[in-house]
Amino acid sequence: MRHKHLKTRYKNFTWSLFIILFMISEISGCKGFGHLTHIDMTYPKASFCEDCHIDIYNEWVNSPHAKAFTSNTFRMATHNYSFTDCLGCHAPEPTFSATQFESRNIFREEGVTCTSCHLEESKMVGPVKPTGMLAPHPVNVDDDRYRNSQFCGRCHEGTFKEWSDVKAENKHTCQECHMPPVKRKMTQSKKFISKMIVAMEDESVQKKHTFGIYMELPDIAPFHVTVNREGELFKLVLENNIPHALPTGDFGIRIVTVDILAVQTNNEIIRIKRFELIKALHTAIPPKGSANWTFSLSNTVKAVRCVISRSRVNSDKREDLYQTEVPII
Ligand code: HEC
Ligand code: HEC
Ligand code: HEC
Ligand code: HEC
Ligand code: HEC
Repeated sequence: MRHKHLKTRYKNFTWSLFIILFMISEISGCKGFGHLTHIDMTYPKASFCEDCHIDIYNEWVNSPHAKAFTSNTFRMATHNYSFTDCLGCHAPEPTFSATQFESRNIFREEGVTCTSCHLEESKMVGPVKPTGMLAPHPVNVDDDRYRNSQFCGRCHEGTFKEWSDVKAENKHTCQECHMPPVKRKMTQSKKFISKMIVAMEDESVQKKHTFGIYMELPDIAPFHVTVNREGELFKLVLENNIPHALPTGDFGIRIVTVDILAVQTNNEIIRIKRFELIKALHTAIPPKGSANWTFSLSNTVKAVRCVISRSRVNSDKREDLYQTEVPII
């Protein structure tokens, strides 16, 4: 009983402290958090944001955007950073603007960082209406801009052009396929004051900052595979339902590999063919287009398996994208 009473007292004390802190920060114009939106030699670094946006930070730091400057391929392609024209998209200035491509001259190793996409006129701009009592930095809500493919198209110029040329109803945006949804609070924190600030929010559907390939859209399968008999031969057709080329991208060499395998009646697997789709070699499949390959099969084959994976030139890393098996009748 006494213990419970003490607990309530403690809770009340925390609340009073919080309210006092809130008032101080209001009166002082929130000077305590000014470094988050003020650009100077300390620069609003991503690690500042990590204090309260732990989940987003952890996703971003492992994403290609965080490596846009330090990537070995980029370093080599710019002759050890001597081509400064390239930095407007790989280490952009800490403000989001639809037209300028200015590069920043400090903390370039953060690549495409939080403030490159969110800071504008000393405010953090984002798509979601805040639900908490206060944000330590001013917030501006602009969901039209943040949920629009044009936002990504500022840097992903070629891919955005491909996407724009696709005429389809209910076409998905870049964000819908490359930033998977997750239900959580906008902020998380381990630090004492930050913890109190972020405690009062509601959970809502937010978007992960992984910027990778997300294959689980409820209403669309990115690829469709069919196998048909054509006389003595068989024809496999691969349809690309993505509203951009497979693979896409303006820079570097990305390779999408299509493996066609035969599943025997004794369950043994035999490789029939391997094809590489490479944009620079004009073998990429256009958006909403298809490619087909013809081959022969022995009569001990019960199904054809198609495995799609992607990799880059100078890298042994391979990522599986899709796999399907079509029975042969
Ligand atoms: C390449 C641009 C880009 C970078 C870099 C980026 N964001 Fe975002 N962020 C977005 C977009 C776009 C959305 C909105 C996605 C949507 O709702 O479709 C968003 C949403 C958010 C939201 C709203 C909640 C949510 O998850 O939807 C917060 C908060 C946020 N970002 C913080 C950060 C922080 C902190 C960092 C750095 C660790 C960061 N962002 C890096 C583009 C970016
Ligand atoms: C001391 C804690 C704290 C720090 C540090 C912090 N934020 Fe926030 N941020 C918040 C809170 C709290 C909100 C509002 C959440 C709510 O009320 O739902 C917020 C909201 C946002 C939003 C608005 C998203 C939207 O869609 O409305 C963006 C964008 C954002 N922060 C980006 C950043 C970036 C970038 C940094 C680093 C430069 C940063 N924040 C540092 C606590 C913090
Ligand atoms: C400020 C410029 C900029 C903006 C805005 C931007 N990107 Fe990027 N993005 C890059 C750069 C540069 C890379 C290459 C990083 C690397 O691989 O070294 C990249 C890489 C990627 C990749 C990985 C490509 C691969 O080969 O794996 C994806 C996916 C991606 N971005 C999606 C998005 C989406 C979705 C948006 C919009 C929410 C977006 N980007 C906005 C500059 C940007
Ligand atoms: C319907 C889902 C979908 C939409 C919409 C979408 N993408 Fe993709 N994206 C994918 C899939 C699946 C892949 C992997 C296959 C590939 O490489 O093309 C991919 C690959 C990529 C890659 C990496 C290329 C590679 O092959 O490694 C980049 C960069 C990219 N997308 C950017 C974008 C941008 C920018 C937009 C918006 C203009 C966008 N995507 C819209 C699903 C989508
Ligand atoms: C308009 C924005 C923009 C500019 C300017 C730009 N890039 Fe990129 N770069 C991107 C984007 C977006 C990606 C990732 C997707 C793609 O390839 O389209 C990328 C990816 C790359 C990659 C692949 C990185 C990796 O890790 O695989 C290399 C290499 C590269 N760029 C080199 C350069 C060079 C060299 C220049 C200057 C001549 C340059 N970029 C200028 C936007 C840009």
